[in-house]
Amino acid sequence: MSGKMGLFVSGVMLFVLSAVLTPVSANDSTKDFKGKALVNDYCAACHEQTDKGLTRISDVRKTPEGWDMTIFRMEHLHGLAVDSDDRFAIIKYLSAENGLSPKESAPFRYVLEQRAHFVDVAPNDDLDALCGRCHTNARYGLQRRTAEDWLKHMHFHVGQYPSLEYQARARDRFWWQEVTSKTYKELAELYPFQTADWDQWKAAAYKSPVGLWRVTGHRPGQGGYEGIMTVSRHGDFFKAKYDLNDMGQKGESITGNSKSVVYTGYEWRGSGILNGTETREVYALSEDGNHMTGRWHDAIHYDIGGEFQAVRLDGAEAQVLAKSSDYIRQGETKKISLHGTGLTGKASADKGLGLSIIHQNSNSITLQITAARNIAPGSYRVTVGQAETAIVVYDKIDMVKIMPEWTIARLGGGNIPPVSAQFEATAYMKGKDGDIKIGIMPALWQIQPFNADAEQMKDVDFAGHIDQFGRFLPAAAGPNPDRKYSTNNAGNLIIIARIKDGDHQVSGKAQLIVTVQRWNLPPIR
Ligand code: HEC
Ligand code: HEC
Repeated sequence: MSGKMGLFVSGVMLFVLSAVLTPVSANDSTKDFKGKALVNDYCAACHEQTDKGLTRISDVRKTPEGWDMTIFRMEHLHGLAVDSDDRFAIIKYLSAENGLSPKESAPFRYVLEQRAHFVDVAPNDDLDALCGRCHTNARYGLQRRTAEDWLKHMHFHVGQYPSLEYQARARDRFWWQEVTSKTYKELAELYPFQTADWDQWKAAAYKSPVGLWRVTGHRPGQGGYEGIMTVSRHGDFFKAKYDLNDMGQKGESITGNSKSVVYTGYEWRGSGILNGTETREVYALSEDGNHMTGRWHDAIHYDIGGEFQAVRLDGAEAQVLAKSSDYIRQGETKKISLHGTGLTGKASADKGLGLSIIHQNSNSITLQITAARNIAPGSYRVTVGQAETAIVVYDKIDMVKIMPEWTIARLGGGNIPPVSAQFEATAYMKGKDGDIKIGIMPALWQIQPFNADAEQMKDVDFAGHIDQFGRFLPAAAGPNPDRKYSTNNAGNLIIIARIKDGDHQVSGKAQLIVTVQRWNLPPIR
């Protein structure tokens, strides 16, 4: 892999494409003769034609990003030359013909969504050690192969990286013996080429994303947003127009649009602009075609972005999808907006919460809520017609938890942007049956050295700073002559969040490792 692979991050591909193809999905792909013909033209020179299809190619299934990475290798190691239009058509065809079903990709969306913070899932400790030391376990979790091809893939690893067994602490075991006798069979059982699920998905009817969507989401550190997305079709692409609003105090509007491709009948990959910032979108359409979930992120800073969910407006039931606040204090009067679909019904609440309607339409209702001074702390139901949600009433904050509890940030410099770390502080109260989550609250943020080493190395002074929204911005990379041993600006820090509760403060802690840059950014890490 080389650093160049970063250029092929899913969304970037879209801008270079202009081919107008017939629509493809998991199910109508065989009609896409162009993609099929291109695969024959470009790949058959090295991959032999058999009655099952081209060798190797017809024995594996991958995500669009997975196919992208393989073609990158064909180009850079094996001399394949393919122009960008054809490359796109090939990826689209292969993702439709030999892709992953929505259920198969579901456990590993975190890596496709380019999250800066995630917990990588390994099926067991052995696989974590054999494979997860070099790349995410998601990388192979997002592939399906025949047993024979998993074995070939083990050979490929050592063929391409003869020093593999000496890298990544691999000498604690006989890597080669283990993966070629045992592991490949295990992989074939965990991630088999043939599954009923894929066969069903391939045969399923095509669901177009065209139409109006009710959007709700959350930007870590900034809060919720909601609005409408309008999707239309333009040849082989979809265009989305966004009319969104920040749910925070300022209520700033967020507008923009994007251009996307839907691979495999559900893998939405878009490039867009939101309030002037270039974005990338990684969403998955639900199997019934009525929901979309995923994440969008800043094109350059993948660590900055938003959680995204959309519900098709047409035919949607009455439901609350998000609200401007999850909580209210005993005795407090507060404006809370509920956002969803079909919110035209009568508003009511459990005894103890007083309601008055400030504004109501089918997508949103803004309520003035008063929590009686003497009601018991706990969860209270608020209903709007058939739609139901809950508001937590609290008396005092007992505990603050920071999410994530620990994570990393990366120094930035040269061509490689820094990777920030975003924290959020959530307040809890003690209940009869355990801790009750009150909700995310604004906090005062601070950093401290994690241990004596960090104190001695003055990590707090060098590693970066945390802003008032809980975002840690790392310092510049490279040797720092002002630092002891002229070392890098890495650090080991405690993150502290203090939430004000009346006249006292409650605090929580998290850990942050500020580490060095990543030199290559493949679409699947
Ligand atoms: C110039 C020769 C050449 C061409 C052209 C070529 N390949 Fe390959 N391909 C190879 C070689 C050699 C390997 C085995 C080594 C490896 O995996 O890198 C391979 C392996 C593969 C594999 C199996 C690798 C894996 O682990 O998943 C896939 C899939 C694949 N190629 C797809 C393609 C596709 C799709 C095309 C056409 C767009 C293509 N190749 C064109 C030489 C080529
Ligand atoms: C010593 C490091 C190392 C170890 C250990 C390792 N890999 Fe990899 N793997 C790589 C590298 C590097 C690549 C990227 C190859 C490329 O595409 O050029 C890769 C690529 C892959 C790919 C994507 C390749 C494609 O073309 O589709 C899969 C799948 C994969 N590895 C599975 C595994 C599995 C399963 C294991 C454990 C049995 C494993 N790897 C162990 C380094 C490693």
